[in-house]
Amino acid sequence: MTVRRSVVVGVGAALPRDRVTNEDLVRRGVDTSDEWIRQRTGIGARHLAGPGETTVSLATEASRAALAAAGLAADAVDMIVLATTTPDETFPASATQVQAALGIHHGFAFDVQAVCSGFVYALATADNFLRLGQARTALVIGAETFSRLLDWNDRTTCVLFGDGAGAVVLTARDGAGTAADRGVLTTHLHSDGRHRDALYVDGGPSSTGTVGHVRMKGQEVFRHAVNRLSEVVDEALKAAHVAPEALDWLVPHQANRRIIEAMGRKLGLPPEKVVMTVERHANTSAASIPLALAEAAGDGRIRPGHLVLIEAMGGGFTWGSSLIRW
Ligand code: ACO
Repeated sequence: MTVRRSVVVGVGAALPRDRVTNEDLVRRGVDTSDEWIRQRTGIGARHLAGPGETTVSLATEASRAALAAAGLAADAVDMIVLATTTPDETFPASATQVQAALGIHHGFAFDVQAVCSGFVYALATADNFLRLGQARTALVIGAETFSRLLDWNDRTTCVLFGDGAGAVVLTARDGAGTAADRGVLTTHLHSDGRHRDALYVDGGPSSTGTVGHVRMKGQEVFRHAVNRLSEVVDEALKAAHVAPEALDWLVPHQANRRIIEAMGRKLGLPPEKVVMTVERHANTSAASIPLALAEAAGDGRIRPGHLVLIEAMGGGFTWGSSLIRW
């Protein structure tokens, strides 16, 4: 039986110029230490957007890199889904500004908001449009300037996050309907709004008229992340009828080294099969998975035919996973 699949044909990334180490944060007056941050999170540095660098500018740069890797002109794209928590403006959607910057005047573009799970949500959305034949080639982007939501006087959150963008190009192709097909094999999305208070931003257009700052109960988030991610990873493997040993790569959301290592152990994967960028990028929210995909595909670790599992959890709570045959 022929089924339509959304095949990854290109991936790209962009990081702001300013690389800020943990020691730089201490020098800038944050009451913390390199030792505390590394021990609790695995983070060593992050990139922070400077003047003129925005979610749209980073998303556009990542998209250009993804299109170049795919060998496609921007014109080939008829759908853009951009996952972000930090749009340039409340409206229009940042995706439409990326569309304009790329010179695309057809198709459609919109943002999705699922915080750190945003890229998985965007990928699932694009995959469904492609499989239904409502688009042929989609740009799926995760882009954030999360630093603009940080309270630099709150050391429990400001050391954790960074800025960046990653993008993948998906093209609809026919497959045989088995796990051997190239493309997105499964997507699984979940949310539970009862956990709003564990991780949220204390502002917004309709409540305060301000942008607000990130607030988090770290230990509660940690506990839920490990449990929910375990479940959604099992769900993906079961749905595709594949054993953990069949995985070539785990590319998790990059929030915390301890959460990532716990997931690797759960799947029985050796550390070299787990893509980890949190040391250099920190938590870039919706951008973290496509940034990690771009790095591992760019340096030749992820190759066509490899089976890649992605998973993420974020504010809401939202969480999700996807199995992709590269
Ligand atoms: N530097 C130095 N000390 C700090 C810092 C800091 N940046 N932040 C907190 N501390 C202190 C606290 O004040 C506290 O001191 P006290 O014992 O004197 O009161 C002590 O460190 C321990 O604080 P805890 O909050 O208990 O630290 P914990 O071990 O839980 O680590 C952390 C905090 C890293 C946030 C952890 O809970 C975590 O990783 N949670 C997951 C959260 C996460 O990943 N969020 C990202 C967004 S959601 C997602 O992407 C999945």
